[in-house]
Amino acid sequence: MHVCGLDFGTSNTAAALPDGTVLPIAPETREQRLFRSVLFFPEDERTVYAGAPAIARYLEDNAGRFIQSVKSFLHSRSFRATQVHGRTWTIEDLVAILLRRVREAMAAHLGSAPEAVVLGRPAVFTEDAEADALAEQRLRKAAELAGFTRIQFLIEPIAAALAYEAQLSRDELVLVADFGAGTTDLTLMRLGPSRRGQPDRRPDVVGSTGVRIGGDRFDAEIMRHKLLPRFGAGTTYRVRGLSDKRLKVPQHVMAKLLSWHEMSFIREKSTQELMEMMLESSDQPETAEALYDLVMENLGYRLFRAIEAVKVRLSQEPEATLDFEEARITLHERITRAEFESFSQPLLTELDQCTQGLLDRCAGVGEIDAVFLTGGSSQIPAVRQLYVQRFGEDRVRTADAFTSVAEGLGRASAALSG
Ligand SMILES: Nc1ncnc2c1ncn2[C@@H]1O[C@H](COP(=O)(O)OP(=O)(O)OP(=O)(O)O)[C@@H](O)[C@H]1O
Ligand SMILES: [Mg+2]
Repeated sequence: MHVCGLDFGTSNTAAALPDGTVLPIAPETREQRLFRSVLFFPEDERTVYAGAPAIARYLEDNAGRFIQSVKSFLHSRSFRATQVHGRTWTIEDLVAILLRRVREAMAAHLGSAPEAVVLGRPAVFTEDAEADALAEQRLRKAAELAGFTRIQFLIEPIAAALAYEAQLSRDELVLVADFGAGTTDLTLMRLGPSRRGQPDRRPDVVGSTGVRIGGDRFDAEIMRHKLLPRFGAGTTYRVRGLSDKRLKVPQHVMAKLLSWHEMSFIREKSTQELMEMMLESSDQPETAEALYDLVMENLGYRLFRAIEAVKVRLSQEPEATLDFEEARITLHERITRAEFESFSQPLLTELDQCTQGLLDRCAGVGEIDAVFLTGGSSQIPAVRQLYVQRFGEDRVRTADAFTSVAEGLGRASAALSG
């Protein structure tokens, strides 16, 4: 029987073997070890696309349903199922499609599909304990639907810790911090040769916490501060039939633009009418046209890809330009890293407070030897800087930001094969 570890991430999914090898499960992409956690149901086809091919197909022709960040909805009672092509897909069905494709891709390397899995989950899906249990239950169901017969959960930061531990030659007290696309998880844990390989590592966890801040929220801050005015924030329009009255574009409509999957909700009748009135009478007509096309032509995903690309560039460079030309939208926005950091300040403060809270709760357990940063968003310099300031450069460690969790889950799965 093959066993494996599986990190089902908000934006990327990765899988590994008991020896820590992360498998190339996305052969059609540049980073073959990362399977994008997205689905596309084209309008005119029965095929369901998953991973990078879903993105490619969607960008070719966006008529259909594109589903992203489905992990973010696992805890939500109000999101139970969705209709596509006249069929009801529960959230478990959607996740199962992704997990099954990954399992099949593993089978191509292993000769047969793995049956037992150590599946990652965030330290906290949500503060609400009942909703948190619901999220895990849904994830388990999805793994069963995908064909796994033995399923064990491990929280993602412990998994990341196990990956870090593999290279330790002496025991350490380590703060592990995983900054993903949807959540940030922190765990303070005792690691090292004397504990490695123990079947249950929970006794080594000194404390752990998590918060719903990840890369998606940083993208939203760029949208909020830099781009919303280009889509009508702060502009006025005239209400039909009331020729002398000008109103400000309501903030709740603008707030829907902060995440591209919320944007589709603006297409409902009342907001569509609002967008038409803006087209007729906006004091800045080009912003009304940009908003209308963004929403009605379903360009949100493309725009957010451009935003994310700029954020990633700002991790390397002091400034970057967001170029986006689609329909009647023309954006050439220069963003400096300093600006990005100032937009992100509330998120950075919350991350810092969350870290402080954990350290306060664990006060007196001893000196922290190292801080291990992982997850794609750990590459944001200001995020790293929070820990450098607290602990000093020489105690801050990193490894492959995108595969540590999967590697640790793989290592943990060794216990399943015995
Ligand atoms: N160089 C970079 N600088 C800043 N952010 C980056 C960089 N590269 C990737 N990211 C961000 O990292 C996130 C993806 O990281 P990761 O794969 O660790 O998340 P995930 O595991 O899918 O999410 P989660 O763990 O929250 O479920 C995305 O938000 C992406 O925009
Ligand atoms: Mg992750």
